[in-house]
Amino acid sequence: MKKDGYNVAVVGATGAVGNMMINVLERRSFPVKKLLMLASGRSSGRTAQFRGKDYPVLELTESSFEGIDIGLFSAGGSISAKFAPFASKAHCIVIDNTAHFRMDPDVPLVVPEVNPEQIAKYTVKNIIANPNCSTIQMLVALKPLHDVAKIKRIVVSTYQSVSGTGKDALDEMLNQSRDMANSIHWNKEDSLDKLWSGLKPFRTLETKVYPHRIAFECLPQIDVFMPNDYTKEEMKMVWETGKILDPDIRVTATTVRVPTFFGHSESVNIETEKKLSAQDAKDILSKAPGVKVLDDPSRSEYPLTALAAGEDYTLVGRIREDESIDKGLNLWVVSDNILKGAALNAVQIAEILVERYI
Ligand code: A2P
Repeated sequence: MKKDGYNVAVVGATGAVGNMMINVLERRSFPVKKLLMLASGRSSGRTAQFRGKDYPVLELTESSFEGIDIGLFSAGGSISAKFAPFASKAHCIVIDNTAHFRMDPDVPLVVPEVNPEQIAKYTVKNIIANPNCSTIQMLVALKPLHDVAKIKRIVVSTYQSVSGTGKDALDEMLNQSRDMANSIHWNKEDSLDKLWSGLKPFRTLETKVYPHRIAFECLPQIDVFMPNDYTKEEMKMVWETGKILDPDIRVTATTVRVPTFFGHSESVNIETEKKLSAQDAKDILSKAPGVKVLDDPSRSEYPLTALAAGEDYTLVGRIREDESIDKGLNLWVVSDNILKGAALNAVQIAEILVERYI
């Protein structure tokens, strides 16, 4: 580790994840010598705070990375595709939060609790990829179980919060929710018919971010559809689990956007080679890095997005044996998608990078 610290650039500094990256760098006392806040030309003139000081937000350009050691990218896949190679050429190591480089065989895809040793391979392209938010939290919870019982198959359904799509999406959800709450006049003495007719005008609503209204709705589509009729988000969970944890695990996913603010929830079903009781799984997970077990049905205690928001840990609960098969478990896994699902995971990678490699 360099004694005087590192020059760090945050690309997408004005966005939901970029902003959190800056917070996490500060909170975890990352050895920052100089911090460069980068965004689009639209943000020129704005400032962002770090360690109590205002920093100007500068426009990202091809020459932004001269003298920068580490670039934390979260401004979208096309920005990473265009600018990461310039950073890499300028000897800046890119930690990229977008999907663009994830499946590149020359780019390590890393969850520090799962495969930190892969970081060593950053040297090929000077790029390390941060996995998809839903994959990260699932694998933090499953790696310790896989080590003991070898997972053969995963069936996962996600309930993903709107912050994962960015600030425009949060704005869209809040505006739709306000409009609906203010214009539907119904109380519990009224008939359900009245509520039904109040809801009718909102069946088809013009939307900008999502294909349909997100307020008071569940959308079984995240990202685009693929030729096999799965969404790209679903296939990311399949592909990335293979690259990070074990290519022999069979994975099937259904990813759903739900009208929550922060924190993704997942119903995870696993089939293992060795039998694990629910108690075995609780014992293993209560000692696992990055995991907090919240599981007391007698007190209705289980992971909630409200408990996960702002929390570094991945919360695991509702741990039950799957009674439909011999060796299976069900789990409910919740984590802050902006933190562990994005900014925190990226900064943890940077921490290992400076501790062990540069
Ligand atoms: P800007 O605020 O200047 O548009 P979110 O996902 O929360 O919407 O954030 C996206 C981030 O990516 C923002 O910081 C945004 O900056 C940044 N961004 C978008 N387009 C560009 C671009 N062409 N060049 C650099 N940064 C960009």
